[in-house]
Amino acid sequence: MQKKLMELKNLAEKKIQTAKDLQALKEIRVALLGKKGELTSVLRGMGKLSPKERPQIGALANKIRSQLEAWIEAKREELEEAKFVQQLATEKIDVTLPGAPITVGGVHPLQAVIEEVEDIFIGMGFEVAEGPEVETDKFNFEMMNFLKDHPARDMQDSFYITPEILLRTHTSGVQAREMLAKQGEVPLRIICPGKVYRRDQDDMTHSHQFMQIEGLAVDHNVTMSELKGVLLTFIHKVFGEETEVRLRPSFFPFVEPGMEVDIYDPQKGWLEILGAGMVHPRVLEKAGYNPERYTGFAFGLGVERIAMLKYGIDDIRHFYNNDLRFLRQFQSV
Ligand code: DAH
Repeated sequence: MQKKLMELKNLAEKKIQTAKDLQALKEIRVALLGKKGELTSVLRGMGKLSPKERPQIGALANKIRSQLEAWIEAKREELEEAKFVQQLATEKIDVTLPGAPITVGGVHPLQAVIEEVEDIFIGMGFEVAEGPEVETDKFNFEMMNFLKDHPARDMQDSFYITPEILLRTHTSGVQAREMLAKQGEVPLRIICPGKVYRRDQDDMTHSHQFMQIEGLAVDHNVTMSELKGVLLTFIHKVFGEETEVRLRPSFFPFVEPGMEVDIYDPQKGWLEILGAGMVHPRVLEKAGYNPERYTGFAFGLGVERIAMLKYGIDDIRHFYNNDLRFLRQFQSV
């Protein structure tokens, strides 16, 4: 019996050492030490031994069992390690290979201008407001002091949906909306960017749809000099501190006095960039502000105009054609 056990041990050692992978090792383990395994069946024969032999063989069998277990465990570790090393080799990533290019979008130049202007005015205490593009005659014209027969109200000039509803022709109507919403409270300082629509023939400088940014301040003692200061700050930030500015008297129904603001371009001369003025007393009154107690200023600028001057773009249609060769130039803006 002792001989049988020693034989089993020697054979087992060879089997364990030559196991080629973890699965094979597992099978060897079952074959040796399992319930129906070789060692177990040898031990079954122990009943036939003399009482003197039995403890000796029992002790030897236990020693062999531990020895086999230790070999199997050592082999298991060795195979695990080999498997891991192989995995590292096959799953190795070459970090020096060129990556697949990632296509990222850019900010549209009009959006870039809007965001820049918003930041400047937020820095001066303004909030950003929005109004609807489908607007009523009441807010687009009536509240802004356009008389019933004003030419802008002509079907030839504006896109009407019904006689009372149209695509807004300017962002100025948001002034009245915001004043009404504020219910006579001050201070009110807002800017409103958005799309506007006019029945123009599209060409280099005209588009039937374009963008404006409206500004409005209403408070006690809002003055023309504050308006001038705000506009100069804005222009100098967008076009550079050295930019020359000219204020010219002009007329808009919703301001009195009204003006147009020009900047000087060394190549092109004076260029109009926005309209502005002191809010007309009738506009304040219609929107619930007593013009005896409050004053206001307003301004409206064309976003395309600003973007064209700032980036040297010669045709307004570039903004709307979505030509990637154009848009890609603004990817880092
Ligand atoms: N709404 C005018 C336009 O579309 C622009 C404008 C001029 C807005 C003067 C104003 C302003 O707020 O005070 O041509």
